[in-house]
Amino acid sequence: MKVIIPFYSLYGHLYKMAKAIAEGVEQVKGVKAELRRVPETLPDEVLEKMGAVAAQKAFADIPVCTVDELGQADALIFGTPTRFGNMCGQMRQFLDATGGLWLSGALVGKVGSVFTSSNTQHGGQETTITSFHLTLFHHGMVVVGLPYAFQGQMRMDEITGGTPYGASTIAGSGGERQPSENELEAARFQGSHVAEIAKKLIK
Ligand SMILES: Cc1cc2nc3c(=O)[nH]c(=O)nc-3n(C[C@H](O)[C@H](O)[C@H](O)COP(=O)(O)O)c2cc1C
Repeated sequence: MKVIIPFYSLYGHLYKMAKAIAEGVEQVKGVKAELRRVPETLPDEVLEKMGAVAAQKAFADIPVCTVDELGQADALIFGTPTRFGNMCGQMRQFLDATGGLWLSGALVGKVGSVFTSSNTQHGGQETTITSFHLTLFHHGMVVVGLPYAFQGQMRMDEITGGTPYGASTIAGSGGERQPSENELEAARFQGSHVAEIAKKLIK
């Protein structure tokens, strides 16, 4: 079984979360995780101005996702940073190229799930994930979140991401904060949870 994790990351937070999602997927026997970068749409000079070039080198070796390979996965777990409470434009553009998959019903009945990142604690993580779910529903996917069985999302002793809709991290106003152990654990939980459900659906 194969779970593909298509993600977009400008400064590396989503990349760290994507790796933790993959770890969780691979904790489930017989399930392989594959990370994929969603195609960049910004020109190099804009990435330079945004100070993203150095951070992006860390995951430049991850293959760029193609639309066709989505149809070959048993489940998909998408990672996108928040952009004004929505998914980023790179992800939107990628998803808008999946009309052929929609037409053929290639994703119908497969598990789809979403994780995210934002700079601020209340900066739109839940709206980013739940609005992303609409696209997955249109594709006929079985949408899976992060259940409260992951108890780390009830923590009050530290500031933490983590929503019932999917794992998340808070990057801090200048992107200085890195995913905490609790947030990475949420991502691992989501990865395993998706893989286990996908396995049951395929049986
Ligand atoms: C155009 C733009 C819009 C953004 N909108 C929000 C927002 O609405 N709320 C928020 O908390 N962070 C916002 N951010 C911050 C990003 O979500 C943050 O940089 C990202 O989650 C970090 O993940 P990454 O390192 O994987 O790129 C925005 C960033 C950009 C560039």
